[in-house]
Amino acid sequence: MKPTYYVTTPIYYVNGAPHIGHAYTTIAADVMARWKRLDGCEVFFLTGTDEHGQKVEKAAADAGMAPQEFVDGISAQFQAMTRRMGASNDAFIRTTEPRHIASCAALWQRVADAGDIYLGGYEGWYAVRDEAFYGADELIDGPHGKLAPTGAPVEWVTEPSYFFRLKSWQDRLLAFYHANPDFLAPSSTRNEVLSFVRGGLEDLSISRTSFAWGVPVPGDPAHVMYVWFDALTNYITALGYPATDTDLWRFWPADLHLVGKEIARFHTVFWPAFLMAGGIAPPRRVFANGWLTIEGEKMSKSIGNVIDPMALADELGLDAVRFYLMREVPFGNDGNYSRRALVGRLNGELANDFGNLAQRSLSLLAKNCDGLLPASGPATEDDAALRAMAAALPDMLRARLDRQAIGDAIEDVWKVIRAGNAYIDKQAPWALRKTDFARMESVLRLLADVLRAVATMLQPVMPDAMGRMLDQLGVPTDARMLADLAFPLPAGTHLPPPAGVFPRYVEAA
Ligand code: MSP
Repeated sequence: MKPTYYVTTPIYYVNGAPHIGHAYTTIAADVMARWKRLDGCEVFFLTGTDEHGQKVEKAAADAGMAPQEFVDGISAQFQAMTRRMGASNDAFIRTTEPRHIASCAALWQRVADAGDIYLGGYEGWYAVRDEAFYGADELIDGPHGKLAPTGAPVEWVTEPSYFFRLKSWQDRLLAFYHANPDFLAPSSTRNEVLSFVRGGLEDLSISRTSFAWGVPVPGDPAHVMYVWFDALTNYITALGYPATDTDLWRFWPADLHLVGKEIARFHTVFWPAFLMAGGIAPPRRVFANGWLTIEGEKMSKSIGNVIDPMALADELGLDAVRFYLMREVPFGNDGNYSRRALVGRLNGELANDFGNLAQRSLSLLAKNCDGLLPASGPATEDDAALRAMAAALPDMLRARLDRQAIGDAIEDVWKVIRAGNAYIDKQAPWALRKTDFARMESVLRLLADVLRAVATMLQPVMPDAMGRMLDQLGVPTDARMLADLAFPLPAGTHLPPPAGVFPRYVEAA
């Protein structure tokens, strides 16, 4: 049986259109999903939209629309973004779906039955923008009153509320983190969360009565569930919870929740506590990506620098955008989006490094070998060194990607591409054509094998372009998995006429 792999993105709020920040996490999750499929796993990849809460209720009212109508429209935009980014998600969940309401009610009931929920009264500082409560000691002074540490305005709220006994989970959570050192990464986020939990947890208010756009609390519909209880539950709803005797449920616990660093706390403190209280295993790993700025500035509607990832893909090509986003910033760090850097990588790394290597090799094969893959001849030391570099890649990438070091994995591949270029320059197969035809064939065969390996392993990042490159290398569509690299293509395999995969981009003056 194939190993299973369950990867998720956050479910995105529907109070505004999708932007490049959302696309960033979605693409990274897609790279993980495609990589694991390539490596023989059975994958379930989930994304979706988070549609309840006061913020959405307000946004709908501002737009003069009923909340459901409003969220339908924006969720559709997120679905379009997901498709346009090439995401290979197996499902798209919406928290307004009836199955999700039922799933939340079931989890709530389990947690309540376990004695972890009680009715109390809540007084505190609440930031609608963050959908979060803050302690008085966390607040900062703003020009018009108190602000949350995130800069969001806070208001003093008093209302009856159900509470989750989070305080009583503090020690069990610390023990869980200790026993599962890979549960939370990168280490910057891990340290932040650990010190937050060590600092002492308070019981958590998990219902509200001041607005209605949410999942009703079982048995007390004057309350709606705290949006994070509702939102986090999506990850099990999608696997059919509360039914756990199904085929889908074998994907739980999730292998990877990818999230932005600002929501790591919700995923690594509240979520495992809710689950354990409900008798469900916590996820195996949460990885927090950093924040992208745009040309050095925070992305914001008021600055007017919000980047639409769909328009960018239309203009520069989806594969180039995916490659750039995964390549530019070490995954997990904060980083910057810059158009110059994108075009620079497109031309320098895709068109030059990779495109030229492929183009030179494939056109020599077409011209000199009648478009038929030659056999390998006796290996020289240079041949053996290059072949060994390519052969080492799968294990290196497995190790990198198990830690979500996507940028490092791409760099590993690029080392091989650069070595391929140095090899072709040194061997000069164009000259061998006249002096040693058999050696030329052998050199071109090795280049074809290296290109095949590289293109196979880059499929998760650039599915379209690599598909076209593998077509040109004569690799059958059912032989494009990592495991297939162990089986060389037969000599004499027909190679279709080559066509450039990465055109250079010239910025209009
Ligand atoms: N709805 C909650 C998540 C609930 S998950 C159970 C939420 N939604 S959100 O629309 O605000 O999406 C936030 C996520 O989008 C971030 O966690 C991150 O993954 C991604 N990003 C949004 N802007 C981003 C950047 N500027 N840079 C990088 N990622 C960003 O929070």
